[in-house]
Amino acid sequence: MNESIWNKFGLRGNPYDTNPLIEGNNINVENAFVGRSQEISSINKILSSFDEGNICILGKAGVGKTTLANHVKYNWKSKRVDKVLFSARTELEANIQTLNKRSFIFEILSSLYREIKLIEPKLAERDVMPEIRALIDLGRIKEMSGNLAVNLATFVQIGITKSASNILNQPLEIPDSALVDYLRQLIDFIRSHEIGGIKYSGVIIHMNNFDVVMHDVKNYPIVLNFFNEIRDIMQIRYTYFIFLGPPDLFSEIISKHTRVKAIFNQPLALIPLKKTELVDALTYRIEALKSQGTNPINPFTDEVIFKLYEIYEGDTRTILKALSDIVIEAGETNIGTLGYMEALHYLANERLSKLRVFLTPLQFSLLEKIIEKDGPSTQHELIAATGIAANNMAGYYFKEFKKHEIIKEISKESRTKYWDLTEHYLPLREYYKNRKNLETSLGTKLESDTKLIQDSLF
Ligand SMILES: Nc1ncnc2c1ncn2[C@@H]1O[C@H](COP(=O)(O)OP(=O)(O)OP(=O)(O)O)[C@@H](O)[C@H]1O
Ligand SMILES: [Mg+2]
Repeated sequence: MNESIWNKFGLRGNPYDTNPLIEGNNINVENAFVGRSQEISSINKILSSFDEGNICILGKAGVGKTTLANHVKYNWKSKRVDKVLFSARTELEANIQTLNKRSFIFEILSSLYREIKLIEPKLAERDVMPEIRALIDLGRIKEMSGNLAVNLATFVQIGITKSASNILNQPLEIPDSALVDYLRQLIDFIRSHEIGGIKYSGVIIHMNNFDVVMHDVKNYPIVLNFFNEIRDIMQIRYTYFIFLGPPDLFSEIISKHTRVKAIFNQPLALIPLKKTELVDALTYRIEALKSQGTNPINPFTDEVIFKLYEIYEGDTRTILKALSDIVIEAGETNIGTLGYMEALHYLANERLSKLRVFLTPLQFSLLEKIIEKDGPSTQHELIAATGIAANNMAGYYFKEFKKHEIIKEISKESRTKYWDLTEHYLPLREYYKNRKNLETSLGTKLESDTKLIQDSLF
């Protein structure tokens, strides 16, 4: 992303970055996190009162799941005095390839190993650590070759110590129980050594986002089976698992299996941050990014944030993306604090210029009918209103709209589908509604700007 535009605001980078907050960046879990006090206190209760725990954090895309998990990990890794818990800063990914017991253990071993090595390289040579490294390398080789029988020559090639290769045996098929045992040994290792001067009493393991797999209901049985397979791992003492996923991860999967449900704590369902929390979050970000010795310009009035919050129903990621799109659309010649009308004008122009590339004038004028209707449309209605033939409506118009993700199916009543703008294009409705006012207000601004320039010239 073009950083220089942010420099013009007196900022070192984009305050509307949509990545999850993590430790260590310019904007991070320490200086830019807001809200979630209830969720944090219920997680803290589990982490402090028990020797193990299994938590799931649920919510729609972009609501703040990863950020919350990162915040919890960060706090327990460094901020607490009573009990500290180790964790890897990168999370495990939930995808079809990793959703089985063996890959899961390999992923945990390798993420914890990497984190220990990063903090204290010497520790990676002690006790069980070389064996674990060998195991990880082996897992990787097997994955790459797709071949389960790896012989001693391969061990030597990848530089695994003789003792490790003896222990691992060759050619080998390590039983699941041995893998679980390595995991227990690693947890013991962490508990019995100081890492970076800290003695940890357990480990948090964060698996990110079942969204991707659960996009397709066909995969639900795979996810269910996965939780069933890893039950014994989830009960290892001094480990706390945090799983993140879509709203139905608990109701449709975890609670379908009594044996699985029984080892989970009450799920946490995240709702969007409050309006005022979002405004606070953005204030903190601007503060964290301000260039030395400058007084940064806030790119937007609070009203802009409030209005986008309403349009996007509090979806933080989409709001952030819209804010940076607006700043970029407004360009370097318009550095200043934008009010709502101006912001909406730039946002709509950014969206409209994309549509002009994607669509023919005919398609565009039909889309305008969808925009101007206050709510979803059906193909039937549009056919009745325009006289366009049904097969054209489906093939020439809707096909393109869907392809470019301009509209999406909102609901279905018997065989009638209701369509509306996707979130990305939703501000166009507001823009079309306000166009008259907008033109007047921008006209006044233009007039006063012109007057200002004339006054300064003469
Ligand atoms: N509590 C918070 N304080 C400040 N910013 C937040 C908070 N929660 C989320 N955000 C911001 O909102 C955006 C989305 O958050 P995040 O990536 O954590 O959501 P998510 O639910 O994990 O999304 P996805 O489902 O796509 O993985 C990020 O830019 C993040 O920085
Ligand atoms: Mg996430």
